[in-house]
Amino acid sequence: MATILRAVLAAGVLAAAGATWIRADVAASVAAAVPEVVPAVVPVVAPAADALAADALVVTIALGSCIKEDQPSPALEAAARIQPDVFVFLGDNIYGDSTDMEVFRTKYANLEAQPGLRALRAGPTRVLATWDDHDFGDNDMGVEYTMKRQTQAIFCDFWKEPADSKRRTRDGIYDSVLLGPQGQRVQIILLDARFNRSPLKRRTPSDTPLPRGQRGEWWSAGYGGDYLAHTDTTTTLLGEAQWAWLEEQLKVPAEVRLIASSVQFASEEHRFESWANFPHERVRMARLIKRTGAAGVVFASGDRHWGELSAVRPGKLTSTPPTFEDPSIKLASDADQPTYPLFDVTASALNRSASVRTERNMHRLGDAGEGKANDQGGPYLLGNFGLITINWDQRSERRARQGEAHVPDPTLTLEIRDARGAGVLRHQVRLAELK
Ligand SMILES: [Fe+2]
Repeated sequence: MATILRAVLAAGVLAAAGATWIRADVAASVAAAVPEVVPAVVPVVAPAADALAADALVVTIALGSCIKEDQPSPALEAAARIQPDVFVFLGDNIYGDSTDMEVFRTKYANLEAQPGLRALRAGPTRVLATWDDHDFGDNDMGVEYTMKRQTQAIFCDFWKEPADSKRRTRDGIYDSVLLGPQGQRVQIILLDARFNRSPLKRRTPSDTPLPRGQRGEWWSAGYGGDYLAHTDTTTTLLGEAQWAWLEEQLKVPAEVRLIASSVQFASEEHRFESWANFPHERVRMARLIKRTGAAGVVFASGDRHWGELSAVRPGKLTSTPPTFEDPSIKLASDADQPTYPLFDVTASALNRSASVRTERNMHRLGDAGEGKANDQGGPYLLGNFGLITINWDQRSERRARQGEAHVPDPTLTLEIRDARGAGVLRHQVRLAELK
């Protein structure tokens, strides 16, 4: 084990050392993304009490999750140093894991003292948050957690929700924030994947036991995981009220839409929590994006204790995930297939990193170098944060060659950055491709 750990640590150093060009490239993109003319402002959603004005151009969105509140988080501090326009906490922002609300308050006080969070709150960054199981209640909890009204109130207090915020009273802390000037609007949808989520389907003794080589280390430790996909389509991840709300949100005009889901949307072959626990809900999401014509959707997720980039490409959406018992790929209908790749930036962990494990993910992009965990390209296993950089002013080279004047062709750069702020995974996509 010591050898493996040394290898992983070395991989982190190597990945950081090899990433200088990424930082320089992104810095140039950011510099080029400031428009010469600021378009008319259309205020849409009243901002909470945070720094970034609703009409300010959003260029950088940082993402993070899984922070043990009483331990240092160099990754959060690195994210704060770049002063992103927005930082989205994707859940497991504390490890509450209790029904005693004093425990939650104490742990939030520890989070409050994190230098990275203090720096974000003191600077120009708009700080947003959703929750996952550990700050909602306890490990892998959903609708069955008995103290959710209490943790909802504590969550809203900590993240500075106004007294009249709907997040305080409705069944879940889901929310949507619209930022940016007309023509360059960024919608950030914060899903609640806990409050209404049906109990998970657990493997039982009558199900096929997994060979030891197929297990993650946490299974054998009794930590959790080992969930099967629900076949009962009355089970839900979001709940009907949130689905109805989401449909309306997806109709709101916006050029870029970040859907922050605490659990992974794209990755589906592991046996921990994800949208694939509810395959009918996963297909429903793809169908809803298609039906509403919502362009520019990118998912962000946390929870997994490693960072990775994934994309469910058109023709690759499954109706139910492949399993050890039946590894065949069962595709959703053509009508349900997305019209563009549904990217998922998994940014985890801010300081609570994974043990070394193997895991399949047929939707994974790229490779974090020697930090990889399997032969399909690797996730990044050490402390990290996600970064989405929008280059609104990217020049259209094709149209420039045709003699046209400057035609913006915005791009999104999706990254995982290490605890020093250096890029370890990167994928760039033209915004025009996301429709
Ligand atoms: Fe989680």
